[in-house]
Parts: sequence; structure tokens; C-alpha cells
Amino acid sequence: MGELTGKTALVTGGSRGIGRAVALRLAAEGALVAIHYGGNDDAAKETVTRIEEAGGRAFTIQARFGEEGAVDKVFEGLVAGLTGRGLDILVNNAGISSTSSISQVSADEWDRLLAVNVTAPFFVIQRALPLLNDGGRVVNVGSTASRFAVSTQIGYTVTKAAVESLAPSLANELGRRGITVNTVAPGAVRTDLTAGYTSIPEVVAGLEAITALGRLGEPEDVADVVGFLVGPGGRWITGRTIDVSGGTYLGPIV
Ligand SMILES: NC(=O)c1ccc[n+]([C@@H]2O[C@H](COP(=O)([O-])OP(=O)(O)OC[C@H]3O[C@@H](n4cnc5c(N)ncnc54)[C@H](OP(=O)(O)O)[C@@H]3O)[C@@H](O)[C@H]2O)c1
Repeated sequence: MGELTGKTALVTGGSRGIGRAVALRLAAEGALVAIHYGGNDDAAKETVTRIEEAGGRAFTIQARFGEEGAVDKVFEGLVAGLTGRGLDILVNNAGISSTSSISQVSADEWDRLLAVNVTAPFFVIQRALPLLNDGGRVVNVGSTASRFAVSTQIGYTVTKAAVESLAPSLANELGRRGITVNTVAPGAVRTDLTAGYTSIPEVVAGLEAITALGRLGEPEDVADVVGFLVGPGGRWITGRTIDVSGGTYLGPIV
């Protein structure tokens, strides 16, 4: 029996990248996992297939954040899939990036970044509250972008700082029900989101040079930390941001 046997989970953006690794990890521990995704049906189906082939249980929910009614659609799918059960674990992972400096960010890009990275998780949490079981877990995916300056990601940085700001207040509000709320802040992780720069050897070498552990992250590096936070071992951590970056940009490496 896994640590999460009998538990239910919703992973937004659970079809690819970090979200997929989280979904696989939670399912491997025994949770029934709702895999939300934006539009790539094949990736979502593949994630479910991989979970089922490993003996786990999962179902998909399609809803594109930023579109009218997307959060309603998530919860219609979730309630249907949970068949009367509550929700134990919510992982707000879906997100989009940006490569724009301040002079390049258009009003449309700003609105899209906020809609997907901030407004969607905010209202997903709001809608999840009545469904969340006592002793539940909420994990929001932030980024080291909120810790150090990357001028060509300034819009993204603002959204990740905003997401990170949710955990302390929510932790206080929900703590008496035994519900923990935390943020994980990954550094650079090899996914489709970062393929634009993780495919460039010079950029990878530069990132490795400022990372204590000397390599880029893999989705499983983040999924293992989320798995810990949502499991019994994570019961005494709440309201915090956990840096999951292999020690990126801690200071000079001599
Ligand atoms: N990769 C990194 O280096 C890194 C570092 C720090 C933080 N993060 C954060 O980690 C999270 C996951 O990133 P990732 O690298 O795994 O990204 P990814 O590989 O691009 O996967 C993104 C996931 O989010 C979903 N998604 C994207 N836009 C959506 C929308 N508008 N509505 C609904 N779902 C949407 C995608 O579903 P579809 O494919 O169906 O659209 C997919 O499941 C993000 O919040 C990101 O900011 C990533």
C-alpha cells in the first residue's frame, strides 16, 4: 500500500512536464489523480495510460485557463470523476512562461500571464475549498524567478511572486482543519516550457555554473518534493516556499 492509498488528487497541467511527473508520483503512491490539461489530448491520454499501466488510477479534465468558464469546467469534471468523494490534494501546477522584457510585454501577454498563472489557481483554490477534506494538502508551483532577477521574464516573475504570496494566508486560514498550503519553487527544469533555452548548450552550461548541484532539474526532482509535502511526512510544513532548484544562485561557487 502506498502512502496516498485512498486519497484523491487534482493536478492542474498534469499532462506534461512537471505536472505529469507529479501525477505519476501521486498515482504510484495510491492516489486517484485528476489530470487537468489545457488542450493537448494526446499528452493527457498518455499520462493516464502510463499511470494505468503502472497499476494506478487517473482521469482527465480538459479546460483551458484564460477562457471563460474554465474553472467551472474543471470542477464539473472533478466532481464527476470523484463520484461523491472529497478532494485530499490540490496541486496548482499549470502555467505559462514569457521571454519578454518590460518594454516588450504587451497588454495581451500581461493579461494572459495573469489569467493562467494567477487568476486560475486563485479561483481553483476558492472552488476547491468546500471539497477539500480535513488533513488535505495544497501545493502551488512557484518559481525561483521570484527570488532572483531575470529581466527577460519580468511578467512571468510577477505572476510567480503573486502565486507564492498565497500560501501564508491560506495556511493560517486552513490550518485548524489540518490542511497545509505550500509553494514549491523550481529552478530550471527540462520540460517543453524551457526547451527554447535548455536546448542551447551554452545556456545550459551557464545555468549549471550557478547551481550548487551542477545540473539542470528534471521533472521528477520537483515531483518527489511535492510527493513528500502531500504525504504524511509533510504534515508539519505549512505556509512556506520550498526552493527546489539544486541550489541555484546561492552565491559564488569557488
Ligand atoms: N520548467 C521549468 O523550468 C519551471 C521552473 C519553475 C517553475 N515552473 C513552473 O512549473 C509549472 C509547470 O511547468 P512545466 O515546465 O512542466 O510546463 P509544460 O511542460 O509547458 O506543461 C504545462 C502544463 O500546463 C498546461 N497548461 C498550459 N497552459 C494552460 C492553460 N492555458 N490552461 C490549462 N492548462 C494549461 C499544459 O496543458 P496542455 O499541454 O494541454 O496545454 C501542461 O499540462 C508551471 O507553473 C511553471 O511556471 C517551471
